Amino acid sequence: MGFMETIKVTKAQTSKLHSVDFKNLGFGKVFTDHMLIADYKDGHWQTPEIIPYGPICFDPSMATLHYGQSIFEGVKAFRMQDGRSAIFRPIENFKRFNRSAYRMEMPDVTEEIFIEGMRKLLQIEDQWIPHELEHALYIRPFMFGISERLGVMPSATYKFIIILSPVGPYYSAPMRIQVEEKYVRAVEGGIGRAKTAGNYAASLHPFAVANKNGFDQVLWTDAHEHKYVQECGTINIFFLVDGRLITPSLEQGTILEGVTRDSVIKVAREMGVTVEERHISILELIEAHKAGVFTEAFGSGTAATISKVQEIKYKEHSLQFEPLQFKLADTIKAKLTAIRDGLEPDTHGWMLPVF
Ligand SMILES: Cc1ncc(COP(=O)(O)O)c(C=O)c1O
Repeated sequence: MGFMETIKVTKAQTSKLHSVDFKNLGFGKVFTDHMLIADYKDGHWQTPEIIPYGPICFDPSMATLHYGQSIFEGVKAFRMQDGRSAIFRPIENFKRFNRSAYRMEMPDVTEEIFIEGMRKLLQIEDQWIPHELEHALYIRPFMFGISERLGVMPSATYKFIIILSPVGPYYSAPMRIQVEEKYVRAVEGGIGRAKTAGNYAASLHPFAVANKNGFDQVLWTDAHEHKYVQECGTINIFFLVDGRLITPSLEQGTILEGVTRDSVIKVAREMGVTVEERHISILELIEAHKAGVFTEAFGSGTAATISKVQEIKYKEHSLQFEPLQFKLADTIKAKLTAIRDGLEPDTHGWMLPVF
């Protein structure tokens, strides 16, 4: 018996599928009928179960509520043109999840639970993977400590859960972003590289301030001088300068190692574009913009794939772009979309079949 067959399944009495308006999904508002849930206790993972989606009950002293041992991932499953369904690069999310777990002093999740559990859940929910163009089924694996005690120490028990949410196309106007000069997202030695809840909680106030000022996002900068750029809200950032695609390097451990970031770099290099992962100062970008050689700026992330930037604001400088003229961003997006839709050969082995 394979691992998948050991997962106990309790089916929901009724399905919500036919009551969902697939034309107005938004992001993360609708959930499918089932979820996968696994418990960690006595030093190891118990066999996961698939149960009807719904609320769970916890003790008020639960570790995560107080000290934030909580990590998550964001993955997407796509309906390919030939009707089959596949998940985009889930192995990378699995590896990143365990890197986050390590930093947060949480147990590793096994590949069987993360990947095979995800596939089994998707097999049950396959009808929820939308057929509509540019739609996807967003997959949210997460883990949190559930020990019932108030001491500051790693939780002894954990829950790993996967929930699924169908999502529509992410039509957003090109972003206006403000270079952050007061608040900090991450510093060397901190938790910036981990996909952990606290990073997102800490970003909410700076985002609210930027929104009030009329901006969609903040562009995080280094904690010491606010001079070197890092990333935006839930996207990594790319700049096309002098025909070279440049993006902040991962070395400092201060930005999330985006799966889309890695895919963009690989696809761009295959297209013959020079990609540089390095320190990028805001002053360099201002000079390049003045010289007329800074022609495109875009973000990369699971939600939107590629998000174009129309303005970067830094002090009195406003760097304006012409997103409609962006050729590289469009080409890369089209290429990634074609791979996900099964219209281009998956030469990297990025698509993991659901069945
Ligand atoms: C802080 C942050 N940066 C970048 C990204 C983009 O990463 P990915 O391409 O893996 O979605 C995300 C989204 O997961 C994020 O939360």
